[in-house]
Amino acid sequence: MLIIDDEASIRKTLSEILSFEGYKITEAVDGEEGLKLFSEKTFNTVLCDIKMPKLDGMEFLEKATTIAPDVPIIMITGHGTIETAVEAVKKGAYDFISKPPDLNRLLITLRNALERTTLVTETKVLKKKVSKVQEIVGGSAPIQKIKDTIEKVAPTEARVLVTGENGVGKELVARWIHELSSRSNSPLVEVNCAAIPTELIESELFGHEKGSFTSAIKQRIGKFEQANGGTLFLDEIGDMSLNAQAKVLRALQEGKITRVGADKDINVDVRVIAATNKDLLQEVEEKNFRLDLYHRLSVILINVPSLNERKDDIPLLVDQFLDDICKDYGISKKGIEDKAIDLLQEYNWTGNIRELRNVVERLVILSGKTITPNDVKSYVAMN
Ligand SMILES: Nc1ncnc2c1ncn2[C@@H]1O[C@H](COP(=O)(O)OP(=O)(O)OP(=O)(O)O)[C@@H](O)[C@H]1O
Ligand SMILES: [Mg+2]
Repeated sequence: MLIIDDEASIRKTLSEILSFEGYKITEAVDGEEGLKLFSEKTFNTVLCDIKMPKLDGMEFLEKATTIAPDVPIIMITGHGTIETAVEAVKKGAYDFISKPPDLNRLLITLRNALERTTLVTETKVLKKKVSKVQEIVGGSAPIQKIKDTIEKVAPTEARVLVTGENGVGKELVARWIHELSSRSNSPLVEVNCAAIPTELIESELFGHEKGSFTSAIKQRIGKFEQANGGTLFLDEIGDMSLNAQAKVLRALQEGKITRVGADKDINVDVRVIAATNKDLLQEVEEKNFRLDLYHRLSVILINVPSLNERKDDIPLLVDQFLDDICKDYGISKKGIEDKAIDLLQEYNWTGNIRELRNVVERLVILSGKTITPNDVKSYVAMN
């Protein structure tokens, strides 16, 4: 536990009592020192005074909740009015206690806070365990072939490049390759290369040492290291800068990475699966993508066809989505008339399976017990 208070006597009293109760205490004399400690170490909970020199309790709270949002912070309101305390809770404080602290109340608040931390962690672990990978639904020839390929390549160490339009199920393919591989007990770590600003991608992938650039306030482990022993899924690889491509190439060639600002190499054992909706060879031609990296990544190529190319799968997909969505909403499964499915098969699915799922969700919400062709006509904009 971290105790931040500028009054030595308060720190001492709290420290003594709480050590006696079995807590391990770290003390800080003001918000600034508190923040420094907080960003360096992981605490289970924080007790923080509000009025302090340098960085006050409210400022600490704001910064700390962006660093580690799950750590409960309990404010100690000395000169505090109830308003300050309420504001603190609005800003994300777990609770507040007034000064001088009532011992019983303090201990109960702390116990509850720590219990919450345990629950949050447990829930995260359980959610991961429960979220079995969604089946790849579809009986069409191209989907059958993709499933066969997944089964064949999953147990190998081969790199796989998954291509296809938006929403066709590229990520799903990547998840299954990991799931059916010998690495499935290790993490599957996902990086969306398009979502990370160019100047941060290197640190995101390879990590950085503390102080290696202005905002690097603590050491950070990159995605390659996080995926060690498991699989790294490089999504939207076509959007990666040439600079980052060069570094990824090295990681793949040598099995080594260097954290930004570090001088030693780290060995990593990672299987890479990449995905893109771009035509990478076209990108190579336009000098946006390195040919050598392309060859490294595309040992196995899986192209997921658009939904328009496999409309035979629509009935099965709709049935699956009706099942999933009605379960999510806690209602009994709605039916759908054959004529309504026919209409859905005529539709031009530019957003592919993701769009189909959204449409089925909309129909579940807006239609009666059974979805009719009229529902489809009214609620799906035909194009
Ligand atoms: N064959 C399938 N059976 C069941 N659900 C599927 C299938 N293919 C895709 N989905 C579902 O459709 C949604 C979109 O799939 P996914 O995220 O894998 O697409 P993507 O190709 O990665 O899209 P984007 O290019 O936009 O990232 C997900 O909810 C996924 O579970
Ligand atoms: Mg995707």
